[in-house]
Amino acid sequence: MAGFHYKDDSLHADGIDLADIAREFGTPSYVYSAAHIRHQYDALAGAMANALPAGRTALLCYACKANSNIAILSYLRQLGSGLEVVSGGELQRGLKAGFDPQKIVFTGVGKTADEIALALTSNIKQFNVESLPELDAIQDVAQSLNKIATVVFRLNPDVSGGGHHKISTGRKRDKFGIGYEAMLAAFDRAGEMSHVNAVGLSMHIGSQVFEVEKFREAFTKLPDIVGDLRGKGYSIERLDIGGGFPIVYKEEQLLNLDAYAKWVADFIAPLKTEIILEPGRYLVGNGGALLSKVLYVKETQDRNFLIIDAAMNDLIRPTLYDAYHGIAPVRRGANDMRSYDIVGPICETGDTFSTGRELPVSKKDDLVVIQSAGAYGMSMASNYNTRGLAAEILVMDDKAHLIRRRQSVEDILSYETIPEKLRG
Ligand code: LLP
Repeated sequence: MAGFHYKDDSLHADGIDLADIAREFGTPSYVYSAAHIRHQYDALAGAMANALPAGRTALLCYACKANSNIAILSYLRQLGSGLEVVSGGELQRGLKAGFDPQKIVFTGVGKTADEIALALTSNIKQFNVESLPELDAIQDVAQSLNKIATVVFRLNPDVSGGGHHKISTGRKRDKFGIGYEAMLAAFDRAGEMSHVNAVGLSMHIGSQVFEVEKFREAFTKLPDIVGDLRGKGYSIERLDIGGGFPIVYKEEQLLNLDAYAKWVADFIAPLKTEIILEPGRYLVGNGGALLSKVLYVKETQDRNFLIIDAAMNDLIRPTLYDAYHGIAPVRRGANDMRSYDIVGPICETGDTFSTGRELPVSKKDDLVVIQSAGAYGMSMASNYNTRGLAAEILVMDDKAHLIRRRQSVEDILSYETIPEKLRG
């Protein structure tokens, strides 16, 4: 069975018991289900293929900020995915994972000259340009390398995409993209450049977008602007319509993918461009769990704390965005239930995964998982409190593969040096 499910009252990832994974690899560990990732990829790619007219396809470029482990990237590459990267580091991950550079798009508001050079020499598909100063920088680097940079401009539609305000990206006040008024000028400027070829537009409105209506609203003016640009003689060959496809954290009513795909077919496809999508969370979010062990059960007069060995450095979403994540026991039984505050060992009150969560009465060494942690979990982890980064395990074909070894304190300290004067 794909994904996370109970078998004989023990939580499994695909066919593997999470208790066995904890025994073999320790905790805290991120565990991913390859079968779930495949299911998600096929669902989105399938919905698009069904809805689009014959001969038209959409290129899915996985937004790897969600989870950039090179094994996950390789898996998605084998499924046929392209890649969206936001840094030279992510680009190098993509290349290492074997992506065809012609399936890699590079977004982000602060691309450095070195990153632009790397992308140009790697021959990526396109830069998604977010400002005119960035365009100038791309022209300069491309000229010095004698390369032509293929660019699309990111349009800021001035709408709120949904989700937490910190992850909404499409408002005028946000730092992303170029407004309608400035777009013609951007193409004019690119038109005058010797080493830049502007071929289209991109848009990403935010994350956890639950209704097709939100996309409809945000993209209303797109045909007009495409028409205006074409009227001025600019060729608009590509539209990158971003990501934002939601997953379940609690009981959310998800985006109807077929309705979304139909909207793409009805609204975007008639513009006769190549179509690119940038799904991140949707492909990996529900396919990952953070496996953790109970260190202590601390019972005070008014609260029961479950102190677990995972912490906010492993998964920052609850404290950063007040995000809800399901928490479940690895062994479920007929136990009595109790209300727990589930916290990590870090010296901050914010190191709390949830308060007042009902779980079976728990004891030291019991295992729990924090669910829906496959996206923006490990990729946002840090070394706060000098905690090594967790191990990552990919369950694939009924086998648990270690895809990132646990980081040791020696690993962390190896980056630091004490000046001579401070020794002794
Ligand atoms: N494309 C662009 C240009 C983006 O900025 C993003 C996400 C995506 C695609 C993928 O969005 P998705 O399909 O995953 O919603 N750390 C936050 C999420 C930040 C998203 C940033 N941009 C979280 O943990 O919820």
